[in-house]
Amino acid sequence: MDLRALSRLAAPAVAALLALTTGCTGSTVQGRPGASGLRDPYFPKAGNGGYQVEHYGLDLEYDPADGVLKGTAVLTSRAEQGLSSFNLDLSGLHVERVTVQGEPARFNRTGNELTVRPADDLKKGEVFRTEVEYGGRPKAFEDPDGSREGWITTERGAVAVGEPVGSMTWFPGNHHPSDKASYDITLTVPKGYEAVSNGELRSRGERPGGHTEFVWHSPEPMASYLATAVIGPYGVSTGRTPAGVSLYTAVSPGEEAGSADALARMPEMLEWGAGRFGPYPFGTAGAVVLPPRTLGYALETQTKPVYPGAPAEELVLHELAHQWFGNSVSPKTWKDMWLNEGFATYAEWLWAEEHGGPTAEERFRAFLAGDTDVDGAADSDWDAFAPAAPPGPDHISGNPVYYRGAMVLHRIRQEVGDAKFFALLRGWAADHRHGNASTADFTAYAQEKTGHDLEKVWDVWLYGEKRPA
Ligand code: ARG
Ligand code: ZN
Repeated sequence: MDLRALSRLAAPAVAALLALTTGCTGSTVQGRPGASGLRDPYFPKAGNGGYQVEHYGLDLEYDPADGVLKGTAVLTSRAEQGLSSFNLDLSGLHVERVTVQGEPARFNRTGNELTVRPADDLKKGEVFRTEVEYGGRPKAFEDPDGSREGWITTERGAVAVGEPVGSMTWFPGNHHPSDKASYDITLTVPKGYEAVSNGELRSRGERPGGHTEFVWHSPEPMASYLATAVIGPYGVSTGRTPAGVSLYTAVSPGEEAGSADALARMPEMLEWGAGRFGPYPFGTAGAVVLPPRTLGYALETQTKPVYPGAPAEELVLHELAHQWFGNSVSPKTWKDMWLNEGFATYAEWLWAEEHGGPTAEERFRAFLAGDTDVDGAADSDWDAFAPAAPPGPDHISGNPVYYRGAMVLHRIRQEVGDAKFFALLRGWAADHRHGNASTADFTAYAQEKTGHDLEKVWDVWLYGEKRPA
């Protein structure tokens, strides 16, 4: 063998060795693959490592007649490490093309992971643009507790609900609540259909081929499980609260009469929430009332909760309370669900106590006594497990997360009194506004803010396996 050829062969190895020993890569970026999951305690494959998304631009065309979705997703992300490849979560559908920084990128798929290998490695700290062209018939699936989530078709349309991991059925992304981003969602549908999504409707216009395009804008950070798209024949009405929050409601035909009273109270509820929890975190609010038998539950989809038919007043209050607790202050992992549901449930109790219903103290006692007159007190198994430690992914929306979670808050109130308790709720919403928080963050914050030792409450009510006495 020619000596010069040998030295040419050896050169890259020498460079790699040098880079390893000096930690300096010179001009070539040495990326490594981003993780395929964020090791959430309940959904370990949800989300992806190595980058955070700052903005999603989704441009979607949907035809209710054949159920086919055609989409382009443009993700603006920041690399948190040098990346040779990274993953997006996507379930079903067909990926046509991926580019990164405008260059075609190789990609492959296994399970719900779409692995993208950019032409050039990405540097730590680099902000990069990923464009995914995709399409097909999105499919809903059953989550571990047996509920349906994802892209759900209705008789004359569809609704997308993503708690906890259903959003991967309709767009590729970093589908874990710890990665929040702003969104621009454009929906193009056949003329005659409405198309509703999160945030503000920027424009609505006719497009060639008998289509209508709806451009929705969500400037505030949003966890991807709270993204929605609702398509179908809906009756739309708009308004504005006295505080300047714009309102947009879409009601399925036939549900108007049953929905009217509860939806009419939204401005008052938002006003009340601002008084109790601090300023409403978003520029818009609203509601979507789905055709009956579409969905088995309501979801607090950001700025536009969806309801499975005409909602009761407490349910509307619950989903609006989530805009503070869950949507603005989002859980760090799916183990922290009681920070969403315990708070939204306690908000219902507070609303009732200030609007002629039972006091929260009465409600709390009714649960302890198993009172058959009070919803959930006798028949919900509210004491079946510790709210901060659901036994598995099939229990993150279980009754103890809601009711016993609310009781944790009431126990704090009993210990610290009303003034400190309400300051705690407001402070918590303010401190983590548009962010993420864990149970440990909350317990530390509550003790510091109130100056009380609450260890017993945590041990017995939040983490204790036994039914609190
Ligand atoms: N977060 C929703 C609410 O409290 C309920 C979601 C129920 N999902 C489920 N898989 N059980 O309004
Ligand atoms: Zn809830």
